[in-house]
Amino acid sequence: MNASRMIMMIDHSGVNGMNMKFPMAVITASAANIREEVQRRGFQQVDAVASSLALTLMSDELKHDILSESGGVLRSGGVFTQYLYLHGIQWQGGKPSLFAGARMLRKHFRDVEQTIVWPNLPPAFVYACRGVRKH
Ligand SMILES: C[S@@+](CC[C@H](N)C(=O)[O-])C[C@H]1O[C@@H](n2cnc3c(N)ncnc32)[C@H](O)[C@@H]1O
Repeated sequence: MNASRMIMMIDHSGVNGMNMKFPMAVITASAANIREEVQRRGFQQVDAVASSLALTLMSDELKHDILSESGGVLRSGGVFTQYLYLHGIQWQGGKPSLFAGARMLRKHFRDVEQTIVWPNLPPAFVYACRGVRKH
């Protein structure tokens, strides 16, 4: 398989304990610069972006920059995946409320599919986003 994987982190201390089964490039940079960092490495587009960023804790401006740059580097038909652990969800009246970032995801992507992965520890909400909206 001819594939590359990149991990982008501001703080790369978590990488040390990772079991790298595949060739990966670890880039210490903000995800807001994802397009520039990908293209600097000779790729024009990517098939997928997987994010576990704490979007709920970020400013609207940073969320906007990360999502528009991620959408901008995705190939047509590509997917942006955001996951959020269940304990990070805000609960309202006994029901999980859409986290603030989900509204932002819908501003950037036409198709946002939400699933819960219960077997994950802790359980995780996963948002699979397709169809980049042009701004
Ligand atoms: C919730 S942790 C997720 C860690 C790990 N990926 C996981 O799933 O357990 C969020 C990570 O995003 C990194 N981070 C925060 N702001 C970032 C940004 N603007 N660009 C890239 N990484 C960022 C933090 O350093 C932290 O390692």
